[in-house]
Amino acid sequence: MILRTWAFLFWAVLTLANPLKRAKTGLYGKRGSSQKDYAVTSLPGLFDNFAEDDIPLMFAGQLKLFEENNTHYFFWKFEDKHKFPQAENKTIFWLNGGPGCLSMDGALMESGPIRINDDHKVTYNEGSWHKQGNIVFVDQPANTGFSYSNGFDEELDQVSWHFMRFMDRYFALFPEDAHHEIILAGESYAGQYIPYIARVLLARNKRAEQDLPKYNLTALLIGNGWISPNEQGLSYVPYAVQAGMISEHHPHWKELLDAHNQCREVVDRTNNDDLVQAYKVVSRVCDEVLSKLLFYTRDTFAAKDQECFNMYDYTLKDNYPSCGMNWPPDLANVNPFLRSEEVMADLNLEVQRLWHECSGSVGSHLKAKNSYPSIKFFPDLLLEVEIVLFHGNRDIICNYIGGEAMIKKLEWGGQRGFTEGLTVFDWTHDGTVHGYIKSERNLTFVNVFEASHMVPFDQPEVSRGLLDIVYKRFELVEKDGKKPELATMPVGYTKEDGSKTDGTEGSHTLTRPTISLDTSPVELPHTSRIIRLIQLAVIIILIWGICALYATYKSKPASIIKTKPSSGRKKNVQWADQLEDEPAPQGSFISKAFSKFKRPDTRYEPVGNDIEMGENVSGSGNDEFIISSDDEENRT
Ligand SMILES: *[C@@H]1O[C@H](CO)[C@@H](O)[C@H](O)[C@H]1NC(C)=O
Repeated sequence: MILRTWAFLFWAVLTLANPLKRAKTGLYGKRGSSQKDYAVTSLPGLFDNFAEDDIPLMFAGQLKLFEENNTHYFFWKFEDKHKFPQAENKTIFWLNGGPGCLSMDGALMESGPIRINDDHKVTYNEGSWHKQGNIVFVDQPANTGFSYSNGFDEELDQVSWHFMRFMDRYFALFPEDAHHEIILAGESYAGQYIPYIARVLLARNKRAEQDLPKYNLTALLIGNGWISPNEQGLSYVPYAVQAGMISEHHPHWKELLDAHNQCREVVDRTNNDDLVQAYKVVSRVCDEVLSKLLFYTRDTFAAKDQECFNMYDYTLKDNYPSCGMNWPPDLANVNPFLRSEEVMADLNLEVQRLWHECSGSVGSHLKAKNSYPSIKFFPDLLLEVEIVLFHGNRDIICNYIGGEAMIKKLEWGGQRGFTEGLTVFDWTHDGTVHGYIKSERNLTFVNVFEASHMVPFDQPEVSRGLLDIVYKRFELVEKDGKKPELATMPVGYTKEDGSKTDGTEGSHTLTRPTISLDTSPVELPHTSRIIRLIQLAVIIILIWGICALYATYKSKPASIIKTKPSSGRKKNVQWADQLEDEPAPQGSFISKAFSKFKRPDTRYEPVGNDIEMGENVSGSGNDEFIISSDDEENRT
């Protein structure tokens, strides 16, 4: 390990020592050094499906970072032709997670202006973030998506240094943007990348003697981020209980709790021992809690593609063991789109790569064994930049309960957690409540209702309002007897007096729209409850019948054939592939039927107290689930 660290340092010094000299020998890719070499002027369907004014200025291509190991990063930049004032002088970099999942997910299914339809043509996303600033999607680290290299990154420090090199190359190509306010945005495992990059960027800004550009980083905007594995690993069971996925009456509750308590032991060890080796950016033991949760809550009587909770949105189902890996459905169109020769040519690719959403080898190299989880850097980062953390409330894997828990433990600005009794605002966008928000000492937490792991996928227009929160373009409304609100409005919203909310008036200037709000929780009318109960009864009887029939065919349930999940864990941390020997669950189908029809309201109240989970229900004597992980064994 030490040898490897030295080898890396040696290499890093060699490659980073004299960037300016290197710059003379071909700064860019083979394509050249002029912006027009990177212009994207056509895409399938662009001129048919986009209004002329909606077509953004686009640039894309593979920028050369390092000659010696042939590292090139792919980027795709979108700039609004008719900028709103608030979009001036801003550049948003968007990074997807993985590790190893390309940021074209972001461009084509989330915050970017493009969606791909069933004909594999582009259509316009009305909620695109490019209306709030230039937005640049970057496939990184190396060998993610259309980015390529002879080498792989193994530690998060490498990832951040390489991203700095990318920024230098990018702003050398677009020098007119180099003074922009920079927002680093992204999702999931980018909750590691982004703080790491911010840390290197801020440190570099301070080293005045260096002949390197400085960048005006103003905010980090992280969606369903994987930031603090400790609290997030311990959030799965509380979240599942709160979401109604499982309860203490479940036949496998005890096993799940055992897994949870084993995760707690891993967490406790890091609390006692602050060495980097004690931390796990991805702990297999804690990942097991999620694996088991998905395993035990399967509905084996459902159709094959409805068996498992979708780990990115608990209101959806998927087959087992995919449990969300086949989601979102748009992937079916994005896949052939990015693999088409025509599109690759349109995107100015010089080295064409068969497009994969997630690269397994990037993830398997980026073990981050000597990297602290990024939460470690938050106290220092918060002294210099605003951090906005948002969570789609339907996401299981990086759920909002874990997000709130890590803030509660975090010490920054001279205090631990948010102040007791801090005002929680309803977040209204365009007059409708879409979440709640807490903000203090440069840290803002937003829970976004009715949204999954990929918030801009479910709520494009609303998600764009998150940038108004970053830019402080909102109005605080406190009315008697009502919850206080933080109100944002769609871009280009016209106030009652006719003036546009173009950001020129500064912050907190929006006028409340005259839309009546109904923020009370949705109550089911009694009649529909009765109908639901009758439906439920009929369905239970039906299922009973089917099961009886099934039982006559087979004396015992079919064994579960565990196909190994595809190597690249999508959007998030690696999959612990340790379920092979687990027994088929023997849960009663009635409880399954109940759990299937239990669809709690997906709007949660802020979490007040920790959920009681009856810890210490059992010892650790659960031999079925001995976890053998070299990661964990290495600990002393
Ligand atoms: C918040 O950030 C500003 C700089 O943007 C800094 O001056 C201030 O000290 C920070 N506040 C806290 C509590 O860290």
